[in-house]
Amino acid sequence: MIARTAVLALLLATGVAAAQGLDWSADEVRAVLRHGPWPPPMRPDPSNRVSGKRDAIALGEKLFFEPRLSRDGRLLCASCHVPYRGWQDGRARALGLAEVDRNTPSVLNVRMQRWFGWDGAGDSLWAQSLRPILDAREMGASAAQAAALVRGDAEYGCRYRRSFGMAPEADDEAVLVGVAKALAAFQETLVSGRSAFDDFRDALARGDAAAAARYPRAAQRGLRLFVGKGACNACHLGPAFSNGEFHDTGVPFFIRGGVDPGRHGGIRRLQASAYNLLGRYNDDRSGAAATRTRHVALEHRNFGEFKVPGLRNAALTAPYMHNGSLATLADVVRHYSELDVERLHADGEAILKPLRLTPQDSADLVAFLESLTERESALGERQAALPCSP
Ligand code: HEC
Ligand code: HEC
Repeated sequence: MIARTAVLALLLATGVAAAQGLDWSADEVRAVLRHGPWPPPMRPDPSNRVSGKRDAIALGEKLFFEPRLSRDGRLLCASCHVPYRGWQDGRARALGLAEVDRNTPSVLNVRMQRWFGWDGAGDSLWAQSLRPILDAREMGASAAQAAALVRGDAEYGCRYRRSFGMAPEADDEAVLVGVAKALAAFQETLVSGRSAFDDFRDALARGDAAAAARYPRAAQRGLRLFVGKGACNACHLGPAFSNGEFHDTGVPFFIRGGVDPGRHGGIRRLQASAYNLLGRYNDDRSGAAATRTRHVALEHRNFGEFKVPGLRNAALTAPYMHNGSLATLADVVRHYSELDVERLHADGEAILKPLRLTPQDSADLVAFLESLTERESALGERQAALPCSP
C-alpha cells in the first residue's frame, strides 16, 4: 500500500497519472474478464431446425416488418421493436392494439437469453416470437391469418419451402410455428456491436496497459463499483450482463389496481403453453433442450421476480425496468443506492442492500453503463438476401 501510494504520488508529480488506468487487482481483472469476449460465437438453437439457415433468416426478416401479421394490418414486430431505437419503443409500456402492462425489451442479443419475456414465460426464442402475434393486446392475429399470409404470398411460400424443405403445411398451427421459427432465426442475428468497455476488457486480457488507459477514468471507477462494492455482477453477469435468472429488486409491481406476479405467473404460463419445449413443436429429438423446462418448479419466492435484463446498449433503451417506471440510468442507479428493503418481498433475496452512493460514485456508475453502448451497429455488414422465386 505504501509503495503504491508512493508511486501514485510520483506519477501525480510528473503529471502521468491521468494517462494511466486504475490499479486493478487480480480478482477485479478476473471479474471484468467474465463480461466478454464480445461478440460471443453463434450456437444454433437445437429446438429450432431452421436456426442459422440463410433462407429462414431472410424469411424471418421480412416477417418482422410485415403488417399483415396483425389483425388490423397496421402493427408489425418492428412497431414495438424499432430498429433505430435500439430495437425497443422508448415507451414506458408497450402499445399494440391496446396498452400492455410491460416495457418492451430490446431484441438485440436476445439469442443469449435463457428464458424469454420479463417473466420467462417463453422457453425458446421461437415460442416467444409466436406470443405477440396471438396476444389480443399486441398484434391480435390468429394461426389461420398467419398461415394464409404465408401460403398466399409467392416469396414467403418460396422461402418457407427452402427453409423447411416443404410447402407450408395444411395445418394452420404448424405454419404459425414455422413463422415463429423463422422470426427466431432472424432475431438470432441481432447482436450489438463492440463498445468502449469491450476494448478495455480485451486490453486487460492482453495486459496492454496503454490500450486499457484509453478507457475513461469515470467508466473505470464505475466498473470497479459494478464488480466491487455494488455487487451488480451478482446478477448482471457474463458477456451480455445477465445471469439469465429472475430476481426481485424492489421495483413496485402493482399495475392497474392489480399486481404483476412476474416469474410466478411466467412459470404457470410456461407450463400451460402448447408451444413449450415439452410439446410437439420442439425439434430437438435428444430431449436435452427441454431439460430446464422439465425441471422448472413454482416457488413462493418467484412472486414479484423479474428477469435480469442484459445491460449492453442500456443507454439507448430508456425507460427502464419491467414496467418502464424509471426514466434514466441515473434514476436506476438512485434506485439501487436508496433501495427500500421493505419492498424486497421475495424470500431469501439477500444480495441487495441500499448502496448509499456518493454523487461521484453514482455519476461513475452511469458513465460505466454508458460505456456499454455499441460504437457502431454490428448490423452494418448484413447482406441483402437473394430474391426467392419458385
Ligand atoms: C405491442 C408491442 C409489441 C409488438 C407488436 C411485439 N412485441 Fe415483442 N415484446 C413486447 C413486450 C412488451 C415484451 C415483454 C413481454 C413480457 O415480458 O411479457 C416483448 C418481448 C419480446 C421478446 C422477448 C425479449 C426478451 O428479452 O425476453 C421477443 C423475442 C419479442 N418480443 C419478439 C417479438 C416479435 C418476433 C414480434 C412480432 C411477431 C414482437 N415481439 C411484437 C412488445 C411487443
Ligand atoms: C439481485 C440481482 C440484481 C442486482 C444485484 C442488480 N440488478 Fe440490476 N436488475 C435486476 C433485475 C431483476 C432487473 C429488472 C427489474 C424489474 O424490471 O423489475 C434489473 C434492472 C436493471 C437495469 C434496467 C435495465 C433495463 O433495460 O430496464 C439496470 C440499468 C440495472 N439493473 C443496473 C444495475 C446496477 C448498476 C446494479 C448495481 C448497483 C444492479 N443492477 C444490481 C437484478 C439485479
